[in-house]
Amino acid sequence: MNNQSYEQIINSIDTRKPAPENEPFRQYYFIERARRKLAEISGKAGRPLTFNVVTFGCQMNARDSEKLRGILEEIGYRKVETEDADLVLYNTCTVRENANTRVYGRLGKLHSYKKKNPHMMIGLCGCMMQEDHVVTKLKESYRFVNLIFGTHNIYKAAELISEALDHPDRMIIDIRQSSDRMVEQLPVDRKYPFKSGVNIMYGCNNFCSYCIVPYVRGREKSREPIEIIQEIEGLVADGVREVMLLGQNVNSYGKTLENPVSFARLLEQVVQIDGLDRVRFMTSHPKDLSDELIEVMAKYPKICRHLHLPLQSGSTKILKDMNRRYTKESYLALVDRIRAAIPDISLTTDIIVGYPGETEDDFLETLDVVEKVRYDSAFTFIYSRRSGTPAASMEDQIPEDVVKDRFDRLLALVQKTGREQTSRFTGQDKDVLVEQINEQDESLVTGRMDNNIVVHFPGDGSLIGQIVTVHLDECHGFYYMGHRIETV
Ligand code: SAH
Ligand code: SF4
Ligand code: F3S
Repeated sequence: MNNQSYEQIINSIDTRKPAPENEPFRQYYFIERARRKLAEISGKAGRPLTFNVVTFGCQMNARDSEKLRGILEEIGYRKVETEDADLVLYNTCTVRENANTRVYGRLGKLHSYKKKNPHMMIGLCGCMMQEDHVVTKLKESYRFVNLIFGTHNIYKAAELISEALDHPDRMIIDIRQSSDRMVEQLPVDRKYPFKSGVNIMYGCNNFCSYCIVPYVRGREKSREPIEIIQEIEGLVADGVREVMLLGQNVNSYGKTLENPVSFARLLEQVVQIDGLDRVRFMTSHPKDLSDELIEVMAKYPKICRHLHLPLQSGSTKILKDMNRRYTKESYLALVDRIRAAIPDISLTTDIIVGYPGETEDDFLETLDVVEKVRYDSAFTFIYSRRSGTPAASMEDQIPEDVVKDRFDRLLALVQKTGREQTSRFTGQDKDVLVEQINEQDESLVTGRMDNNIVVHFPGDGSLIGQIVTVHLDECHGFYYMGHRIETV
């Protein structure tokens, strides 16, 4: 369904009747109710009311923000880019401590805006809100926050915002411990008209010992293939050419469905969709990456030549402690199988340094894997202690100066190998999906190849959303400069 169809359903709702119990109709009802209340407030204020949703986390968090924006626009709020707005919603992340601290830091600034704007409301949602100590702290020291909800009831945003609009003097808190259902079919405001994320599953069952995600996102749940296909067909009808299938571990997709389906089979169905040019996915856990998936990727050119394959550590001992369930050797063997089947594939990764008990030798194993695999790029993280995870209570936490030194050495290596690896396409012609006008130079446009590498080349805004062939003239580290070649 596109946003016009929601508009028709919502316009026909009678808010004098009680709210329906079944979803998503209950939320359509509250969109209409909030819309009336907002119109009343806006009438008194003599101006339209504005909103800003800020994303702090990963692609899944970003996709949730698109859903929240869709609902807020449907309610009648106008989207603005500043946090000096009438409703500011922070969609939080807590995967590392710094994501968490940033939120508290920025709340002070929001409070100063709120003191000057009698209509302003502040909402907090997302992963950080699933932690008890966070909500306790907010209740004690951040009373100016109007609304707090978590990851399991994000679909209820319209209902909660309606309640907050009715009671601007209260702090409304709704946190659930698990998801009772997956509610889709709600309005979405996509960042790009031509590409979109699509959730294929929620939650995570892996419990890597350092990671808080399973605690704040709950157990793994897959959506039915038919629902995913219908959603993508709807997106394609609405102008989308590229989708990114999203899940914490897409390789275990479908295992818990009543009629189990493998991720590879789902991909095969997705590539059949007419009008869809590119399919990406994220994230692949190495332990579950099947030969069937490698085969399917090799077979269908619509599947992007890119795999994000988080390594975390190159030491088999640390991997065992992390509960990753693969070894250095099995990871390297997997990379060999992938490269044998898809030689031009780009591999990217995530690496953690300073996991409790990591010795210099363990760290050297990580450097060794980076040398051997030659990633196109890598996200490198300093281990962050997350309360409630098994690793947080382990002895042998690594001193800060040692971690910092290892981090710098790792970063230097991934940058060096990344540059060398990325430049291997110089002189080739590649298809590029144009995303935007270049931010520094208006005579250029910026797009991505299917392996996710960025390319800048001369062009204008009319190319945005198109796939064009570009000659790659020069590699500058992690991106290319090129020029368009006409194809007939
Ligand atoms: N589901 C994905 C990862 C999601 S979190 C996967 O399994 O690969 C994204 C990345 O954050 C992880 O890959 C890991 O490298 C990093 N990360 C997670 N918890 C962390 C922690 N406690 N400290 C530092 N980095 C962490
Ligand atoms: Fe975290 Fe591991 Fe789940 Fe990824 S697979 S979200 S790292 S627990
Ligand atoms: Fe952060 Fe939650 Fe994603 S903790 S990384 S926003 S799943």
